[in-house]
Amino acid sequence: MNACLDLDMARRWIADAAHVAVLTGAGVSAESGVPTFRDALTGLWANFRPEELATEGAFRRDPARVWDWYQHRRRMLRDVLPNAGHRALAAFQQRYPGRLTLVTQNVDGLHQRAGSEGVLCLHGDLFADRWLDPARACCRLDAAAPGSPPHCDGCGNLVRPGVVWFGEALPFAALEAAERAAHACDVMLVAGTSGQVYPAAGLAHLARRAGARVVIVNPEPTELDDTAHLVLAGTSARLLPELLGGLCNR
Ligand code: OAD
Repeated sequence: MNACLDLDMARRWIADAAHVAVLTGAGVSAESGVPTFRDALTGLWANFRPEELATEGAFRRDPARVWDWYQHRRRMLRDVLPNAGHRALAAFQQRYPGRLTLVTQNVDGLHQRAGSEGVLCLHGDLFADRWLDPARACCRLDAAAPGSPPHCDGCGNLVRPGVVWFGEALPFAALEAAERAAHACDVMLVAGTSGQVYPAAGLAHLARRAGARVVIVNPEPTELDDTAHLVLAGTSARLLPELLGGLCNR
């Protein structure tokens, strides 16, 4: 089908929708200058092996290396800004309160910095700290002894980044709310994700089974394309403003 007609149709579905759920991935931050994970050249996993940096085992084996890598990512993100895709989602939420649920796999905080509220963060928050082992009475994050990583002076417990590592469970409340939104939405927009990581990718299947229209926004093919009613080939900073800006029937 013609790309302009597809875009018009998706805009119409969104305009008619009582509820829109959006699942985002690393690609929505690409135009802010943040590397994705699986891009063959610039992706984080093209240059690092996930099991060396994004597992609890890796952190226990070499806490300084893993901590420093996450500190590097934190520093890099301080210099980037939300792009037109993040802003379009936030503007839609502000214009139509309660009508769009934003679910993200991203840990970069750019949706929140663009003004989105109630973002369901399935993979945690890169800027949050937490204890590696269950906190004891002596463990106070605001009093952690500096180091790489910081630690508890009392018991030696280590501070770790508040992201979800491979093999860990997703935050229960966020996942449950995301599943509810996928089940109840009229349209599910899936932007900037390769659709390779579950349970996040399963939200698109859930929405489709529950009767929602599923629309993909991505410049490349994804694992979820077969699940979608429409695949819009293009970047999120270009297409999200076109999809969400301006027109709304409700
Ligand atoms: P990936 O790196 O797997 O996929 C990024 C997707 O973004 C690809 O499909 C690209 O084609 C697409 N993309 C690139 N530029 C884009 C743009 N300007 N606009 C729209 N799309 C664009 O990243 P995710 O799918 O987010 O998990 O990866 C899922 C999870 O795997 C991450 O949350 C992370 C990773 O391991 C954890 O760290 C737990």
